[in-house]
Amino acid sequence: MARIFSGIQPTGTGTLGNYLGALRNWAAMQQGEDECVYCLVDMHAITTFQDPATLREQTYGMAALTLACGIDPERSILFHQSAVSAHARLAWIFNCVARMGWLKRMTQFKDKAGKNQEEVSTGLFVYPNLMAADIHAYHATKVPVGDDQLQHIELANDIAEKFNHDFGMSFFPRIEPFVLKETARVMSLRDGTKKMSKSDPSDQSRINMTDDADMIAQKIRKAKTDPEPLPDNLAALAERPEARNLLGIFAAVSGESQEALLARFAGSGFGPFKNALADALVAHVEPIANRTRDYLADKAELDRILQAGARKAAAIAGPIADEAERIVGFLPR
Ligand code: TYM
Repeated sequence: MARIFSGIQPTGTGTLGNYLGALRNWAAMQQGEDECVYCLVDMHAITTFQDPATLREQTYGMAALTLACGIDPERSILFHQSAVSAHARLAWIFNCVARMGWLKRMTQFKDKAGKNQEEVSTGLFVYPNLMAADIHAYHATKVPVGDDQLQHIELANDIAEKFNHDFGMSFFPRIEPFVLKETARVMSLRDGTKKMSKSDPSDQSRINMTDDADMIAQKIRKAKTDPEPLPDNLAALAERPEARNLLGIFAAVSGESQEALLARFAGSGFGPFKNALADALVAHVEPIANRTRDYLADKAELDRILQAGARKAAAIAGPIADEAERIVGFLPR
């Protein structure tokens, strides 16, 4: 049996990108033999300032969404990161293993900090070390993510390799990312070259997993496209990122292949395609939004689930962090 680990930041409400790129794979991976550990990464969230009351609400919101997407707390371990101190303990050791040059190459840091590198928090810079600690604290080997996280996973492997090399042992295993090919990167509805993101200032750029039917239909109607009719083959979409994105979303939520959808809509403009896409999306997202609301109505139950998850998580990660501390030469706690 292997162990699976993944995390999501409890900022904003989850998007269709989070769902199609990651959360639905979290749910699918529960069906196998492996042990699944899923984490609401509140410590990552505060690398950019979060209003405390909003952070609390959004952590509940993300817990409710993951449950609504089918994460079963009896099968999987679901918890919030700050509740398990092993993450912070191992992250400190990794701060001392990772090299400045490695972190400076992280494209997500460069994107997020932009020209403002002197002003962002130091947490934002060392964030990938904490992400490496999240995974390695469980000796997890399989990590379901969208493709924006691949560089961080490579770094987590580099950190493990250097730790193992520096201390002359193979304590941390190699990690393998699991990316869903067709929805590895769901793009913004306003710009087909930008990732759909919970932090985009425009709400029109994304479908939130809590949007109602009218909102979804309106956002799809207004989604950016181009003036050409839909072609009859995928290759013809190579230079049409917005059309490609909508087709990828349609295929993912309808279960039809992209080729079959093109065969149906080839030669037509985007009007009928968008109407059918909106219907398919609503049919898929609305039940999840309703279940999310139901879970959110009982915060005491969410606390119970997360705290039970944290106890199970700590029982795995605590001893691994203890051992890492022993390996580097700390006295027993
Ligand atoms: P976060 O919170 O930005 O996103 C959570 C998951 O959703 C995926 N994702 C997408 N996939 C496809 N298309 C999109 N537009 C899209 N937007 C987001 C992300 O790839 C991710 O899988 N650093 C991570 C959280 C994290 C983590 C970890 C993940 C912390 N520790 C350990 C895996 C293992 C993050 O910020 O994800």
